[in-house]
Amino acid sequence: MPQEIADDVARAAGAAVYSSRTLKAYDFIVHGFSNRYLWKVRTAELISFYSQNMVGAHLDVGVGSGYFLEKCAFKALDRLVLMDRNRDCLEFAAERAQGVEPELLQADAFEPVAFEPESFDSVCLGYLLHCLPGSIADKAVVFDNLLPLLKPGAVLYGATILGKGLTPNWGARKLMALYNEKGVFCNLEDTLDDLQRALDTRFDQVDVKLHGNVALFKAIRR
Ligand SMILES: C[S@@+](CC[C@H](N)C(=O)[O-])C[C@H]1O[C@@H](n2cnc3c(N)ncnc32)[C@H](O)[C@@H]1O
Repeated sequence: MPQEIADDVARAAGAAVYSSRTLKAYDFIVHGFSNRYLWKVRTAELISFYSQNMVGAHLDVGVGSGYFLEKCAFKALDRLVLMDRNRDCLEFAAERAQGVEPELLQADAFEPVAFEPESFDSVCLGYLLHCLPGSIADKAVVFDNLLPLLKPGAVLYGATILGKGLTPNWGARKLMALYNEKGVFCNLEDTLDDLQRALDTRFDQVDVKLHGNVALFKAIRR
C-alpha cells in the first residue's frame, strides 16, 4: 500500500470509531468509568482545567460527544468553532452546545486548517493526541497547523493519555493495548518528555502536568 494511503487509513481509524451509537455511551465509558478507574484522572479536574482556559473566540478540535462543551462555561465565549474529522461527532457535539450556535468544520487536524490567521484566543485538544497515529513528533504537525490560527498570547491546551514511561494498572494496560491494536489509540510510544519537547520548541510558557496517566498541557503562542 502506498505510504500516503497507509497514513490516511491510520488517521481515519482514530476518528472512525465514533458513531451516533458509540457517542451515546462515550461519556459514561470515558469520563465516567475509564478516567476514574483506568487513566486515574478526575473528570472534575479536566472540567476545571478546560473551563479556566476556554476564552473569547474558541476552537475545539476533536470534539467527540461534546461532553466538555456542556460541562464548561462555553456560553461566555464570543465565538465557538468545532472541528473534527468525523461529521457524526460535530453534529452530536453541536446539539449539546445549547444556547450558542457553533460553527462546524469537518477537517483533519493533520492538514492545514482553512481559517483566517490569528482568529482564536483559545484552542482545545481534549483527548485528541492519543488517538492520532505516529510518534509525538509526528503528531506535533497538528500544533504546527493550529499555531497560525492563534492570536499572539492565545492559549493552546488539552489533555492526552500517555502510553510510555508510566505505570498504568492492569485494566489500563489491557484496554490501552486493545485500543492500540484496533487503531482507536496510538499512544504506546507517547512520553511526557516528548510532549514537553514538542510544545517547548513551538510555544512560550509551556506547562505540562501529569494526573495519573494523563498529561494536562497548556502553552501560549509567542
Ligand atoms: C477521544 S475523542 C475526544 C473527545 C473530546 N474532546 C473529549 O475529551 O471527550 C477524539 C476525537 O478526535 C477526533 N479525531 C480523531 N482523529 C482526528 C483527526 N485526525 N482530525 C480531527 N479530529 C480527529 C475524533 O473523531 C473524536 O471526536
